[in-house]
Amino acid sequence: MLLRAMALYLLLLLSLLNLNIISSLGELQRLEHPIRADGSLSALVIGDWGRTGSFNQTDVAFQMGRIGEKLDINFIISTGDNFYENGLKGVDDKGFDDSFSSIYTAKSLQKQWYSVLGNHDYRGDVIAQLSPALRRIDSKWLCMRSFILDAEIAEFFFVDTTPFVMHYWRNPGHSTYDWRDVAPRDTYIANVMKDLESALKESTARWRIVVGHHTIRSVSIHGDTSELNQLLLPILQANNVDLYINGHDHCLQHISDMDSPIQFLTSGGGSKAWRGVFNSNRDGLHFFYDGQGFMSLQLTQSSVEVVFYNTNGDALHKWSMSKEPLSAI
Ligand SMILES: *[C@@H]1O[C@H](CO)[C@@H](O)[C@H](O)[C@H]1NC(C)=O
Repeated sequence: MLLRAMALYLLLLLSLLNLNIISSLGELQRLEHPIRADGSLSALVIGDWGRTGSFNQTDVAFQMGRIGEKLDINFIISTGDNFYENGLKGVDDKGFDDSFSSIYTAKSLQKQWYSVLGNHDYRGDVIAQLSPALRRIDSKWLCMRSFILDAEIAEFFFVDTTPFVMHYWRNPGHSTYDWRDVAPRDTYIANVMKDLESALKESTARWRIVVGHHTIRSVSIHGDTSELNQLLLPILQANNVDLYINGHDHCLQHISDMDSPIQFLTSGGGSKAWRGVFNSNRDGLHFFYDGQGFMSLQLTQSSVEVVFYNTNGDALHKWSMSKEPLSAI
């Protein structure tokens, strides 16, 4: 019994080491992901997906495999709502296989996934979805609440946005939210904000990318998330964040902030889509697609390129930007 426990512990330790988890001075856990020898990186971004393949989830997965191969991606980002309707029931919920392992089967997608939780994930057993036990079932899976991914030229700041939204606390309706390790809300979100702000201030990365489930700007059914506009956006604007990437609205969007260089990118088209809602927004809308799809992100020291794709793998919208090259020392 003891030997078995020790062996499991060793396995867990090894799987953690494999991810290059390094100690951090701040409160947010920090992961490192190596990038290409030439200093560039590419990734795919998908959100709002886990529906056992239905609502075109399988078609999106197929095209992700194709584009992932073409771009030789380093990793995949999930913007949350990983398992519908109510997250996972436990670590042995077969939804994990039916909606994840058995769907994203392409060779190019067998890379590390970095996931945040969405509001639907909070309606299940959150501790299970975050559990290392799932990594032993499928090693590409990784989901945490708020954390930092250091990818050399870029730092990704993953933020657990569900607890910010007051509605889920006050008017949960028929849904139950798993607030274990979260409640009380005020302390939790104050810590997230403090940790995020100090991590952003210390960041020396070329690109700063914040990932959360909920929208800051959206022209679709959920619109802007007022709690994030009040509490999170000022921190992002004051700390040279380049991109805010989210899901929640089941569509693809690109909106530019009027008051800062931040680009708001929604990649929430992983399965059920076509809500048929469009509400104009005060900020600059570049692109809105109400159907299924995903996004790619390609970064070098001096450039970023974002492309949105539909279920045929057609590139629907491309946006790129350059930064002055770093001067040689
Ligand atoms: C699947 O995708 C096709 C092509 O975009 C679309 O016409 C169809 O309505 C989608 N099906 C569902 C269930 O959303």
